[in-house]
Amino acid sequence: MNSTQPFTVAIDGPAAAGKGTIGRAVAARFGLAHLDTGLLYRAVGAQVLRGADPVEAARALAAGDLESDALRTAAVAQAASKVAVIPEVRAALLDFQRAFARRAGGAVLDGRDICTVICPQAEVKMFVTATPEVRAQRRFEELIARGQDTTYAAVLEDVQARDRRDSERSTAPLKPAPGADVLDTSQLGIDAAVAAAIALVDEARA
Ligand code: C5P
Repeated sequence: MNSTQPFTVAIDGPAAAGKGTIGRAVAARFGLAHLDTGLLYRAVGAQVLRGADPVEAARALAAGDLESDALRTAAVAQAASKVAVIPEVRAALLDFQRAFARRAGGAVLDGRDICTVICPQAEVKMFVTATPEVRAQRRFEELIARGQDTTYAAVLEDVQARDRRDSERSTAPLKPAPGADVLDTSQLGIDAAVAAAIALVDEARA
């Protein structure tokens, strides 16, 4: 691979399927830049919870808005999936994501519409998924480890509500792109899932 050529690894899937962990590991392994696109929608959602207009917040988003730990709460996740149904919000975030995807040196992006809308020409396309129960258990453990006060039942409800909203919206709904490799992590440990993703990238680079 020529390091000045664009090389995009696009990863889609529902909440807590393992996209972020896989994305970070693939980026580190191949020296690629990584963008967790959920943070863009979370940053807009967080501003809406503080009273901002969603479209204006999306248009004014700056890199520094993506760095707060406060974006990782369940309330912000729900707000993110609500602003994510607004076509003007998605449109405002499009150019930044497309430019990131095709930057020199290569990039990994994870989200809901990376393979379908942001970068259908990506050299590697994956759809990472797992059952709602497995994903809720993982997210529950993550939130507890961060000191948040929640229950498994509340997290499962949150995951199912976001799955519904993300899959049923009319603009850029969550679905596997044609030609994407489906990685079901329900039964896979994280190391095996990362190894499978790395094998797909190796194959594309060969
Ligand atoms: O991935 P994460 O859970 O951080 O995403 C938060 C929300 O942002 C998702 O539930 C989804 O509604 C929205 N999102 C999106 N498109 C993306 C990434 C995230 O609609 N590419």
